Amino acid sequence: MKIALNNLDTEDLETQNFVKFKSKKHKLTGKQSVTQLVSRAENPDPNSKFENADLNGLSKMGFLDELISGIKTGKEASVFLGKNSEGFVAVKMYTDLRVRSFKRDSSYREGRFIGDSRIEKAIDQGSKAGLDAHQILWVQEEFRQMKHLFEHGVNVPKAIAVNGISLIMEFIGDENGNPAPRISDLRMDKYEADEAFKQSVQNLKRIVESGRVHGDYSTFNILWHDEKAVVIDFPQVIEFKNNPNANAFLTRDVHSLCKSFMKQGVKADEVRVLREIRAG
Ligand SMILES: Nc1ncnc2c1ncn2[C@@H]1O[C@H](COP(=O)(O)OP(=O)(O)O)[C@@H](O)[C@H]1O
Ligand SMILES: [Mg+2]
Repeated sequence: MKIALNNLDTEDLETQNFVKFKSKKHKLTGKQSVTQLVSRAENPDPNSKFENADLNGLSKMGFLDELISGIKTGKEASVFLGKNSEGFVAVKMYTDLRVRSFKRDSSYREGRFIGDSRIEKAIDQGSKAGLDAHQILWVQEEFRQMKHLFEHGVNVPKAIAVNGISLIMEFIGDENGNPAPRISDLRMDKYEADEAFKQSVQNLKRIVESGRVHGDYSTFNILWHDEKAVVIDFPQVIEFKNNPNANAFLTRDVHSLCKSFMKQGVKADEVRVLREIRAG
């Protein structure tokens, strides 16, 4: 993978002032406008809308006009409802990933950033430049995988744009800006739960047919929108051709998928699901 040097501009990353979403003061509730939260009070550049450099870039490219509300704030990423001239979008902004624990991701990473030994080395050594590079690659990878899966008929949000460690994708929700719930947030009746499970297995099958493993597949990362299961959250996606652990990750995905659907009352049989997927 080729890495543009401007993406490694550490000073720029350093000066990015990420809003501390975790702090109570900035806790986003309901329809509270968040444009202000990320807007400069005294903005030296009158044309830049947001304090955050990534969002400004996206705004200048015409992908984002406004952040309307927070959909979900998390330790590693926060997702917002945004808007551009075409309508709603979902904006996923990673918090500074240097605070994120990369410990657990070495097996996901295997074979991922091949082709640039400098980066591999920097990441392995845990140097600052390595971590900066890593976090940008991680987000670009999410974007790339989302596109790949979309093109291969998996029901995922359409990837729209990525800049730095923020990305914009199709908003999954209603015309009033209410986001679709995760299946894990719902208590489905039997018919609905069986249908959601069937679609989730179908999506998993397509993911695998396209040469990928999701890597974090459960009802926590599947939205339920207009009776359709929509898969989200892709930074850890694994490619069969690069990663020798892919099959183990697939078995784990099937396990967590089935386990999470059992909570919805579905008689989910892991062995059967695995067989069905591998038969493809
Ligand atoms: N495209 C989208 N449309 C609507 N809501 C979304 C979208 N993407 C993510 N969300 C919401 O944001 C939450 C977090 O997104 P996710 O990609 O799973 O990140 P993470 O789990 O790493 O915080 C999801 O559980 C979902 O509620
Ligand atoms: Mg998630």
